Amino acid sequence: MGRIITIVSGKGGVGKTSLTANLGVALAQSGLKVLLVDADVAMANLSLILGMQSSPITLHDVLLGESTIGDAVYDGPGGVFFVPSGLSLEAYRRVDSERLESVIRSIQEKYDYILIDAPAGIEKNVMAAIAAAEETLIVTTPDSPSVADAIKIKLVAQRLNVNPIGAIINFVRNEKGEIRAQDITKLLELPVLGTVPEDPEIRRSFMQENALPMILHKPNSPASNAIRKIAQKLSGKAVEAESEAKGQGFFSRLFGKFRKK
Ligand SMILES: Nc1ncnc2c1ncn2[C@@H]1O[C@H](COP(=O)(O)OP(=O)(O)OP(=O)(O)O)[C@@H](O)[C@H]1O
Ligand SMILES: [Mg+2]
Repeated sequence: MGRIITIVSGKGGVGKTSLTANLGVALAQSGLKVLLVDADVAMANLSLILGMQSSPITLHDVLLGESTIGDAVYDGPGGVFFVPSGLSLEAYRRVDSERLESVIRSIQEKYDYILIDAPAGIEKNVMAAIAAAEETLIVTTPDSPSVADAIKIKLVAQRLNVNPIGAIINFVRNEKGEIRAQDITKLLELPVLGTVPEDPEIRRSFMQENALPMILHKPNSPASNAIRKIAQKLSGKAVEAESEAKGQGFFSRLFGKFRKK
């Protein structure tokens, strides 16, 4: 049975979606079979970061009972598999996110890791994304509003009987005034699995014409190196940095767009 981990944060914009994509690719590069699920059913972003814009069947269709989960799994870049969320506001309004748990559990045995990208906050769709998993990874930035919200989301996970396994500190600049990793460990009562520096390559990699997760586009950037370490800590498997995916981008995108699994 694979591990199902929801990437959560409380506060928005701290890097959940970016980390889901890049951590997923890093785990896949170590030989694991990885499925990424965009459970941000209102504001789907993961497709853009993976460089996959058009997916005819989405999680919306699955949650509406109109398609099976198998029909919504696509080949993504870097060897990951991917379930996109839909963009239609009308479908979003009708979606029953409580079905997510049974949908995800039905495919658990097919993958080593299922990483679920949750929306921010503690609303119904966030709870559904957490409840669909067995573990959560909490993303925070090194400042008090973000850490305060991280504490809240940890309590939500525990109430849902989902195990918070650790925190990732993102957007680290090592500036005076930032909350240190050891203090975040104490405040959250959780181990810090890794710190990821603020790195412009994260935004650049999806703003270029052939969008790809940073870890494929700039495998040796500071944030890519940090994310590979986190993947290694999570799985216990070494991840080698691959060479820059300039020439492969086109093929990854092509497969991602047109092949379904
Ligand atoms: N370490 C980093 N360094 C620089 N920019 C980053 C870093 N991590 C994320 N970003 C950028 O910050 C923005 C927000 O990231 P992202 O969408 O991953 O956050 P999120 O937590 O998923 O947001 P939301 O709560 O809206 O879902 C994006 O533009 C992304 O490129
Ligand atoms: Mg997001």
